[in-house]
Amino acid sequence: MDNNARQTNAGSGGKLPQRDSFGSKLGIIAAAAGSAIGLGNIWKFPYITGIFGGGAFLVVYLVFILLIGVGVMLAEFLIGRMAQRNAVGSFRELKPNSPWQYVGWMGVIAAFMILAYYGVVAGWTLSYIFKAIMNAFEGLDPDGIGTLFNNSISEGLTPILWQIGFMAIVAWVVIAGVKDGIEKYSKILMPLLLVIIVILDIRAITLPGASAGLEFLFKPDFSKLTGDGILSALGHAFFSLSLGMGTMITYGSYIGKKENLGVTALQVSIADTLIALLAGIAIFPAVFAFGIATNSGPGLVFVTLPNVFQQMPGGYIFAIMFFVLLAVAALTSAISILEVVVAYFTEDLNISRKKATIISTVGITAAGVLTSLAQGPLAHVKVFGLNFFDLFDWITANLLLPLGGLFICLFVGWILSPQKVKDELSNNGEISIPYFGAFMIIMKIIAPAGIAVVFLHGIGMF
Ligand code: TRP
Repeated sequence: MDNNARQTNAGSGGKLPQRDSFGSKLGIIAAAAGSAIGLGNIWKFPYITGIFGGGAFLVVYLVFILLIGVGVMLAEFLIGRMAQRNAVGSFRELKPNSPWQYVGWMGVIAAFMILAYYGVVAGWTLSYIFKAIMNAFEGLDPDGIGTLFNNSISEGLTPILWQIGFMAIVAWVVIAGVKDGIEKYSKILMPLLLVIIVILDIRAITLPGASAGLEFLFKPDFSKLTGDGILSALGHAFFSLSLGMGTMITYGSYIGKKENLGVTALQVSIADTLIALLAGIAIFPAVFAFGIATNSGPGLVFVTLPNVFQQMPGGYIFAIMFFVLLAVAALTSAISILEVVVAYFTEDLNISRKKATIISTVGITAAGVLTSLAQGPLAHVKVFGLNFFDLFDWITANLLLPLGGLFICLFVGWILSPQKVKDELSNNGEISIPYFGAFMIIMKIIAPAGIAVVFLHGIGMF
């Protein structure tokens, strides 16, 4: 009864489109975790940890997840569920006629830019399914596998075709509205991905020379930390948890009024962090065992794991399964990114879902082509010293997401009425929320100040 009342109240213009909602508890966690767990965990986390020197970066990253990430995820859930709107509409709903809606707008721009290069990397993943099937790694030494990767992403046209293929699948899922179906499968497939990563972990840590990799990952050397590294750790905490641009606001709007938002945010954060750690444990021992450079960059996973597959019984099958599951993980994340853009177009600009999806996918894919070409033909084109790929990554992960997160915290900490926040988190007093006081301090002061300091330090302001 109460649910209905709130649902109706939420529509300011009276014309509120019927919103989907997640059917079950597991559905919510599967969808939110499906968004969070993706290339960020398995591709990006290891490669930036490698670039920024290993253990110390990991420690800082974990601190940011705990101190800022979990809170921001909860903040996004509660904003979305309170407003029953998309990222832009939520701010407009909760604070009408104010500049706060631009926070949502910034999220739409971030979504556009992230998906542009995310689709490219997902395309690499698709192409690696094929390479695995064709047994393309067979007999190659680590150098040969590295060359194979570099050639395959720098060719110009081929990686673009894979990117387009991936984006077409994402658009198809979003148009056909079969997201629920995908989530049903991903409930089975993501645990399977976990199993494969654990098997890879076991193989990797039993390779000769593996202990140097574990040391690199788990023995922090804080002298290696730079301002840029700390900012990247913060940016990646946002990226990996899908925060700072309204994904979790949009998903929060689909969460039922009876769910415990705090517990959900914690569970999703733990699952996401666990997968990243397990990916790191699969990669770094192998990186050292095969003499690959820790700072190899975006190719790290693609040049390391094929070596591992070659050194394990059933490696041929494992390789195929791994890249298929990674592509599925990328798909569920990409869907959640596109959803932010499409939800905005359909609900706020009143464009049909199909049209909105097609227009935004074409635009995103076109922008993504630039980041794909940055691996080869356009490698020399630099903006602020970064090629298009690194530029899109830097602007989104290190600038837009933390800035979005900062405003989201301020909004919950200072703009929304504390009583309303408390009601939303406790389901109107139905469940106890012992963390409320700490949460509000994080929202009001700790997270905004932390983000501001890390950002200014990261860009060399002090
Ligand atoms: N978190 C996803 C990953 O790790 C990517 C992603 C999905 C994302 N939605 C997002 C990143 C929103 C930032 C913001 O692969």
